[in-house]
Amino acid sequence: MSVEVLADPAALAVRAADVIAAEIGQKPDLRVLVATGNTPMATYAELAKRADLDASQVVAVQLDEYLGVLEDDPRSLYAWMRRSFVEPLGVRQVVRLDGGADPEAASRAFDAETQRLGGLDLAILGLGPNGHLGFNEPPCGPEAPTRRVGLTPESLASNAGYWPDLAVPREALTAGMPTILNARRVLLLVQGAHKRDVLHRALHGPETPAVPASWLRRANTLVLADQAAHPESGGG
Ligand code: GLP
Repeated sequence: MSVEVLADPAALAVRAADVIAAEIGQKPDLRVLVATGNTPMATYAELAKRADLDASQVVAVQLDEYLGVLEDDPRSLYAWMRRSFVEPLGVRQVVRLDGGADPEAASRAFDAETQRLGGLDLAILGLGPNGHLGFNEPPCGPEAPTRRVGLTPESLASNAGYWPDLAVPREALTAGMPTILNARRVLLLVQGAHKRDVLHRALHGPETPAVPASWLRRANTLVLADQAAHPESGGG
């Protein structure tokens, strides 16, 4: 695992876009796990500005979805991924984690499809306030499969900020930990002082089910953090 600290969210977005664009440049049919949430939005917007980037062969793989939420629901994470990443970048192939289907069948279909692709080249992730990745909520071991999960109070609270007027669904589907950890490369994006403590635990605490992101030390992970999340001085 390596860590780079960027001055602010704008610099982080440029650096993250550089990493992703280089991966696509080296492998035009990159199979990439795509987080939603607030953190990667500036990165995706930065990528969309790059006229020389050809993402037409990229395969975008959905990281997580609320259970029972369909594509036309404003809370759909699938729709959010399409709006922010797939459509602006001209990606044509998507592996969906379908919140409207039977949860067990949707999880098995997702795993079958990612295995058929030969696994992932890159996983773009944000960091949950409780250390979750996707919706791999603590406690969560490194073997936790793609599955149905109940959301923790921390996740319900943080996700409420995405849609102030709508209830946050209490359950979700998430890509499993092996899907994430076995990616050829993982890019974890972390910004803001509210992520400082959990990032510190993920980087420096024990590898533990209490902090799912701590398992990223077993993967080929690049962490990009802004100074608010990872102060370069003062013991951060
Ligand atoms: C959410 C999502 C994750 C996301 C993380 C961080 O709950 N399930 O996919 O990466 O938490 O979100 P944000 O970037 O908005 O802080």
